Amino acid sequence: MSNYHIKHLEEYYQVYRKSVRNPEAFWEEIAEEHFLWRKKWDNVLSWDFKKPEVKWFEGAKLNITENCLDRHLATRGDKVAILFEPNDPKEEAQHITYRDLYHRVNQFANVLKSKGIKKGDRVCIYLPMIPELAISLLACARIGAIHSVVFAGFSATALATRINDSDCKMVITSDGSYRGKKTIDLKCIVDEALEDCNGVESVLVAKRIHSECNMKEGRDEWLQPLLDAASDQLTATVMDAEDPLFILYTSGSTGMPKGMVHTTAGYMVYSAYTFKNVFQYRENDVYWCTADIGWITGHSYIVYGPLANGATSVMFEGVPSYPDYGRFWEIVEKHKVSQFYTAPTAIRALAKEGVEHVEKHDLSSLKVLGTVGEPINEEAWHWYDDNIGKRRAPIVDTWWQTETGGIMITPIPYSTPTKPTYATLPFMGIQPALMDEQGKEIKGNQVDGRLCIKFPWPSIARTIWGNHQRYKETYFSAYENMYFTGDGALRDEVGYYRITGRVDDVIIVSGHNLGTAPIEDAINEHPAVAESAIVGFPHDVKGNALYGYVTLKETGESRNHDNLRKEINQIITEQIGPIAKLNKIQFTNGLPKTRSGKIMRRILRKIASKDTSNLGDTSTLLNPECVQEIMDNAL
Ligand code: PRX
Repeated sequence: MSNYHIKHLEEYYQVYRKSVRNPEAFWEEIAEEHFLWRKKWDNVLSWDFKKPEVKWFEGAKLNITENCLDRHLATRGDKVAILFEPNDPKEEAQHITYRDLYHRVNQFANVLKSKGIKKGDRVCIYLPMIPELAISLLACARIGAIHSVVFAGFSATALATRINDSDCKMVITSDGSYRGKKTIDLKCIVDEALEDCNGVESVLVAKRIHSECNMKEGRDEWLQPLLDAASDQLTATVMDAEDPLFILYTSGSTGMPKGMVHTTAGYMVYSAYTFKNVFQYRENDVYWCTADIGWITGHSYIVYGPLANGATSVMFEGVPSYPDYGRFWEIVEKHKVSQFYTAPTAIRALAKEGVEHVEKHDLSSLKVLGTVGEPINEEAWHWYDDNIGKRRAPIVDTWWQTETGGIMITPIPYSTPTKPTYATLPFMGIQPALMDEQGKEIKGNQVDGRLCIKFPWPSIARTIWGNHQRYKETYFSAYENMYFTGDGALRDEVGYYRITGRVDDVIIVSGHNLGTAPIEDAINEHPAVAESAIVGFPHDVKGNALYGYVTLKETGESRNHDNLRKEINQIITEQIGPIAKLNKIQFTNGLPKTRSGKIMRRILRKIASKDTSNLGDTSTLLNPECVQEIMDNAL
């Protein structure tokens, strides 16, 4: 896929202006030139943010896997598509070529078919970062089944919630996973989850850690023998442009996680085109994104974007600290990685361990560095720039979301001058707006406000699975005719954007989105707890950490607080997963509430952040006396 080879900022502006003056013509040209269609579209775009409804390339017919696999066979059959680097550095890396991948996807898709999976069925994928994960996504897409990947760090309860919400017929998992020195028995977690999931008819189990696991007769089967018996040929199912490709859950401010639905053609066009341009991928480059495929970053920029471009995409099973803190850099050197894409949390954690882990390795292959998932602080940005990119490889600070499907605000490397902590400029076709709390757009530069997007782009999520009303309320109701991101941002004197963080009750911990409501619900299940409130506070590695204020049913010293803290974190681990554990738990006599009974999180946030100089007017609270008590006992 060619790109615009933007070499100067002025060129960026020229192309950008063209893309927003006539987005339909812009995206049509890209779709036309760079993809394989069974039939072209009748209409490029129809949209109405009021309904809301967005359709791109309506009438077109395609299969995304023909774009990711079949069309590369003639020219890139022997090129490595997925370079799998195992957890244990002593285990050999696997170089899966486009031809191998094509055959393995076909085999897997044939197995899915033989188990009765059809177009439109939902398949839950709960796998570690092993090749079967990427292959299973593509196998679903090959036959038009809708994949719903659940990050393999989520608990049985969280998994069950997601399986039931989208009514999955099948679960694909493994006996277990390796994470550094640890092994995790994933199949046991699936078994526990499935006690509450009546719709699941079959479970396919990949072998990874060779642990004993219980296989339920008539439901569970080992994957490998089925694959071995399956044909490696299969004609892809023809999909409509707007047929769902996948569901991916993300946390909301309240209630259940939201199953964001992405459809086929627009997602393909946008993820592929952003990949090519944001990472300036060239034919012989080796690209590595360290995210887990359980998150949107992995979907768009380990699997679909890179493969649609015929790229070599590294998939790493392990963790940055195993066997030591030099692992990332060892992999960069070993595979001569050209583009490296990671999260600020990882950068901060590695920076803390010192540059000696970096200096042992030759990083001269690196051409572009990326960051994503949370705001990057200035110190981490410079550490990355100085020690990893050696001020030679530009940093692309890419802002986007599960809902956006692809990168939205980002520098174009070697073109956009970077500025620490700034995601800089909108990508082609993206029209950001900053809004004030009264719903008016804030024009001009050197301003801050709530970040919205004024015009649809091809990979915007089309709905929340089973709940279009919630989709409308969450994203299209705060501001008329705009998509509301939930983030705050500022625009500097040259028009660069800096994302300042969430303005709702979503907290980003180590780059993971966590909604406060499900965590509070979990805590409140503890028999001793009357009520609780969770807020974020700044943390030097995680970006934010969680601070819980918990009021017990019976106050007094009768219960051991340390034990209670352990029990509360245990419940959270069971209900959601270890990523949602609280760093600090303060027991309180009451929580500050407005007269209508709403917890005043603003005050709790300030206390947790040790920023109590200006708490604002607390006299209108229902119970102002509790504020002092909370401040006095703050952790
Ligand atoms: O708050 C923003 C933050 O991550 C949120 C989206 O999280 P999720 O849907 O899990 O997707 C993460 C990977 C795309 C955003 O609303 N965020 C993402 N990228 C950045 C960021 N905050 C600041 N700078 C970024 N580059």
